[in-house]
Amino acid sequence: MERTEKLYEGKAKIIYKTDMEGLVIQHFKDDATAFDGVKKDTILGKGVANNNISCKLFEILHKEGIKTHFEKKLTDNEMLVKGVEIIQAETIVRNISTGSFCRNYGFEEGVVFERPTVEFSYKSDEHHDPLMNDDHIRVMGIATEEEIATMRKNALKINEILKKFFDSIGIIIVDFKLEFGRYNGEVILADEISPDTCRFWDKETKKKLDKDRFRYDLGGVEDTYAEMMKRIGD
Ligand code: TMP
Repeated sequence: MERTEKLYEGKAKIIYKTDMEGLVIQHFKDDATAFDGVKKDTILGKGVANNNISCKLFEILHKEGIKTHFEKKLTDNEMLVKGVEIIQAETIVRNISTGSFCRNYGFEEGVVFERPTVEFSYKSDEHHDPLMNDDHIRVMGIATEEEIATMRKNALKINEILKKFFDSIGIIIVDFKLEFGRYNGEVILADEISPDTCRFWDKETKKKLDKDRFRYDLGGVEDTYAEMMKRIGD
């Protein structure tokens, strides 16, 4: 397989075209940003960790019947994926209150929800990823009602699978963000699932094992990505 031109470069990943119809390379960078790109740094080993973690989690989801863009791991920091058209609404699932949920609503931290919540936000740094409801997504032409229903249903299914897996390795999945894309007329899971896009707490100690260590200068950032890669295994 040949890699051809760079199709897209985001804050943490690069997408390269290939000579294979419909397939692209997703390259994970060590670059890290927070607060819509205001805070920037490099986290050594993050690209390798996020690629390995995402490969493993996509494999688990595939085995459980979730359709994803994942094809195969290529190198330590690259995977081969289907070239989807990303839907510009991010899907966020929350099991425990923290982050922007507490900030936006003045709600207490650490409350375990009886049922998970699903919310959508507009994928736009320029507009600070504002929350969107189904009607906003629909009138802006971002996704159809059917696609929104598919994203919500799959996000909840993915949550159940990930909750079970992380529980088995002593980790709580507090919340996470997913991106879905269109491929051959279907909506499938795309992007990554990693400490950049999820909040993980150790079940025993409640230690934060995700990008919040970088966002809020909690220290041990590189070690945390390495620890998560080790605990998730390959
Ligand atoms: P939030 O509480 O800051 O809204 O974050 C919810 C989840 O989304 C959390 O698991 C981290 C993830 N997330 C991203 O993947 N990208 C982002 O830009 C932000 C702000 C959060």
